[in-house]
Amino acid sequence: MLTKLLKISCTSRQCTFAKPYEAIPGPRGPFGMGNLYNYLPGIGSYSWQKLHQAGQDKYEKYGAIVREVIVPRQDIVWLYDPRDIALLLNERDCPQRRSHLALAQYRQKRPEVYKTTGLLPTNGPDWWRLRAQLQKELSAPKSVRGFVNQVDGVTQEFLRFLQESRDDGSVAIDMLPKLTRLNLELTCLLTFGARLQSFSHKEQDAESRSTRLMHAAETTNSCILPTDQGLQLWRFLETPSYRKLSQAQSFMEGVALELLEENISNGSVGSSLISAYLKNPELDRSDVVGTAADLLLAGIDTTSYASAFLLYHVARNPEVQQRLYEEAKRVLPNPKESLSADVLRTDITYTRAVLKESLRLNPIAVGVGRILNQDAVFSGYFVPKGTTVVTQNMVACRLAQHFEEPLMFKPDRWLQHRSALNPYLVLPFGHGMRACIARRLAEQNMHILLLRMVRHFELIWSGSDAQLDVKTLLINKPDAPVLIELKPRTD
Ligand code: HEM
Repeated sequence: MLTKLLKISCTSRQCTFAKPYEAIPGPRGPFGMGNLYNYLPGIGSYSWQKLHQAGQDKYEKYGAIVREVIVPRQDIVWLYDPRDIALLLNERDCPQRRSHLALAQYRQKRPEVYKTTGLLPTNGPDWWRLRAQLQKELSAPKSVRGFVNQVDGVTQEFLRFLQESRDDGSVAIDMLPKLTRLNLELTCLLTFGARLQSFSHKEQDAESRSTRLMHAAETTNSCILPTDQGLQLWRFLETPSYRKLSQAQSFMEGVALELLEENISNGSVGSSLISAYLKNPELDRSDVVGTAADLLLAGIDTTSYASAFLLYHVARNPEVQQRLYEEAKRVLPNPKESLSADVLRTDITYTRAVLKESLRLNPIAVGVGRILNQDAVFSGYFVPKGTTVVTQNMVACRLAQHFEEPLMFKPDRWLQHRSALNPYLVLPFGHGMRACIARRLAEQNMHILLLRMVRHFELIWSGSDAQLDVKTLLINKPDAPVLIELKPRTD
């Protein structure tokens, strides 16, 4: 009898008695048909666009581990406990993710352009072959520091662009579309060594290359969840979501090829990522095209949404902003001078804490997903190899058992009691071998933005009094305009 209830599970990490997989609590849907109906607009209580609320609801109903059957044989195990999260994300040997499936199909159907499905959707040795070659230029601290000057220069142009919007009579500025232009400009500069001039009047036109590229990136991202989840009919016929994704990708791929050709015809000189990859004998041209398309897709909205939440929190917390301003004045006594890489490395403790706290409350992903490479035991339950497991860091980061006054914006928690905080809760860039390849670069860009913004302007929140919430388009976008009044500083 006992052996029916308990399963003996041996993994490389532990050998233990575990409760069976089927016993993990969670929604299964009526008659074993799955919980997909619960996400249908007007019928169910969950929404793909409010995944954090669905995550909170499941935690309250079922506890720290949840097995949700979306459609039969398509389970997701959700983890909320940092001990389980640590176990999942410390997996070695090519950690696998199950995402961007329709994007992978789009690329597979175009073998004349792509050799693999790219870094985002590919798993196994093909993924590692690419990742091992790409991460030196994109992740190593020295390479990332090499980008400081270029990023600081574009960020100063961005401030002039904001100033022009003020001169045009806007009292409060909707920051997200502006930040998207900044991150488009930065992604293209660092990836291809190319300037799109997306702050110019011409490029602000709805039909310009910059504007279309911004829309294509967001359209692709917003098609990922609807195509990853559910019945996946796009595998057999061209569904509306698959068509939208293909059209957006086709445009982005066209721009990537155009900028790549420009880079090659300029002799691939300069410090761009693509120049370095083109010189790498382990990568061929189609690897480089796929990488360029991935960086365009992954680089723009992620940093823009994260920066929008960051400025929102700073604008809503004047005391935090004052301390930030003092730090910014110390590292940039003369705002016309450039920021140095050394200063960014050592002297901006408070700026770092503010970003960390913003990413705690508003990570751009609800959590991190993996397909298990081997059997495991989470919270005492056996979970077999091959299962999709997703962490619920956003929900866990807002629980009082992990953070004092969890809904308050308190950067000091990262300065005073940091060692008491579990390191597997705030993981906005994921963790382990498969973590965000551009983490250091994205953090550095946001530190520069924050220091420059508060050094030049006082940020005054002008949006709704209600807390800004998120809308999930694969990544978490602010669900309302991020309206901020910018008052130039005089000292
Ligand atoms: C605030 C900014 C950003 C955040 C919060 C972020 C977050 C993430 C997360 C959570 C993952 C999945 C990690 C995992 O599975 O463990 C990821 C993967 C990735 N990110 Fe980022 N990201 C950001 C910016 C960027 C930028 C600027 C780029 C490129 C220019 C980029 C490129 C990628 C790529 C290529 C992957 C896939 C890596 C792989 O599978 O090996 N990200 N990112």
